[in-house]
Amino acid sequence: MRRSLTAAALFVSLTNAAFAQDTQSFDRIERGRYLATLSDCAACHTTPGGAPYAGGLALQTPFGILVAPNITSDPDTGIGNMTNDEFLAVLHEGRGHDGKRLYPAMPYPAYTKLSDDDVLAMRSYFATVAPVSNRVVSNQLPFPLNIRLAMVFWNGLNFASGRYQPNPKKSAEWNRGAYIVEGAAHCGTCHTPKTLLGGDKNNVALTGATLQGWFAPDITNDPRKGIGGWSRDDLVQYLKNGTNKWTLASGPMAEAVSHSTSHMTDGDIVAIATYLKDSGAAGAGSKPEPVAASNGAMRAGAAIYKDSCAACHKDTGEGEVNLFPRLAGSALVQSDDPTTLARVVLHGTRAVSTPGAPTAPAMPGFDWRLGDAQVAAVLTYVRNAWGNAAVPVSADAVASQREALRKSP
Ligand code: HEC
Ligand code: HEC
Ligand code: HEC
Repeated sequence: MRRSLTAAALFVSLTNAAFAQDTQSFDRIERGRYLATLSDCAACHTTPGGAPYAGGLALQTPFGILVAPNITSDPDTGIGNMTNDEFLAVLHEGRGHDGKRLYPAMPYPAYTKLSDDDVLAMRSYFATVAPVSNRVVSNQLPFPLNIRLAMVFWNGLNFASGRYQPNPKKSAEWNRGAYIVEGAAHCGTCHTPKTLLGGDKNNVALTGATLQGWFAPDITNDPRKGIGGWSRDDLVQYLKNGTNKWTLASGPMAEAVSHSTSHMTDGDIVAIATYLKDSGAAGAGSKPEPVAASNGAMRAGAAIYKDSCAACHKDTGEGEVNLFPRLAGSALVQSDDPTTLARVVLHGTRAVSTPGAPTAPAMPGFDWRLGDAQVAAVLTYVRNAWGNAAVPVSADAVASQREALRKSP
């Protein structure tokens, strides 16, 4: 009797142990899957409509084209054979298969901040991604940039390997936000100004940068150039739904929202907002003098605005919440670099659709209707009407954006 009870108890505890181990590995894979979403690995390693993580997406870099490799569990053409140590070396040191030096188009300068445990949880998840046979030749750069050894010098100048170090003076939430922004979600890859060699200028982190015909604006708490005017909740809304009362996400940010930030937990989004609202020098931006309303470009711009823009953005520049972005008081509209503005007016754009904001309103393109001087005038107007103030946009800047869009739409 006693014996069989013990046996039964033993059986129960054994199955519990097996069960516990199972759920633990299930939880670990789930955690790895979430971390891969937080890190937006799919942005580059999955082609639109293609098999998850099978690679093949061509990425425009300042140096030429790099194609993101296959990172499914396929042993021959993917990373099925990669050991844990090799996987850690990819994310922490930028060393790929056979120790080859990776180009920083793979954002290892940010991923180096991820903890070993988080990277290994991702490794557990990637081992479960369905194998797809797809051989990718990543390096399609022209000579001499195609020489991987050059990355030794690049890394020497631009890369410091090292895990995220929590700031003990800040809350756990702030530190979680910093870990996501600087590490996993690599926001600085797009938002931090770059050196001539494409390295991050870390002393001005997140103060805005141009990439592929877009301007990723200042997202520090600077009141004029950054998101200082946004509440923490505005920021949460934007990252969750791709829209808030100020603006709608388009282009590369629409992709970041739909693949990554809209799938983040509420806790993680709030952590990002807490961190960003506490970054940058508050009050640092000095406001330029607005261009006078009597100026020729302003007068021409006002007329074009009334004719072509006010139906959606309203005479007051206030737009319509979740439909037409607000231009009055918008940091993006007043940013020093008008690349995104010229692009949006010439080419139009479609906002992102997320479960929280399912309609994706579109802005029509005006390249067929407005000449360079007219686009410059209407942009100068929206940058200096309703209390806005920013340097005028030149017809030359619009002409070069028009030319760039003609080459790679
Ligand atoms: C912004 C684009 C981008 C993102 C985001 C990105 N990668 Fe990459 N990744 C690349 C490119 C490009 C390469 C190839 C670089 C090279 O060949 O020098 C690469 C290389 C790799 C390799 C090396 C493969 C090999 O054969 O050596 C692995 C593994 C990898 N990435 C995994 C990941 C994981 C995991 C994530 C998310 C945590 C991720 N990548 C996010 C662009 C990206
Ligand atoms: C692939 C490049 C890329 C990545 C990665 C990226 N962004 Fe962006 N982001 C952009 C671009 C481009 C814009 C401008 C979009 C527009 O004009 O609608 C933008 C816009 C924004 C804005 C709106 C600012 C304004 O004044 O309108 C915020 C806030 C923002 N990003 C936050 C983030 C955060 C936080 C992360 C990391 C979780 C991030 N971004 C990652 C490219 C990127
Ligand atoms: C049919 C409605 C409509 C008209 C007309 C229109 N827009 Fe837009 N505009 C939009 C929508 C919708 C967006 C947001 C699209 C997105 O985020 O992808 C937008 C975005 C913008 C942005 C980017 C703002 C931001 O926060 O992302 C600027 C600047 C802009 N429009 C200026 C203009 C100007 C200048 C004109 C006239 C030449 C104009 N728009 C005409 C609907 C319109």
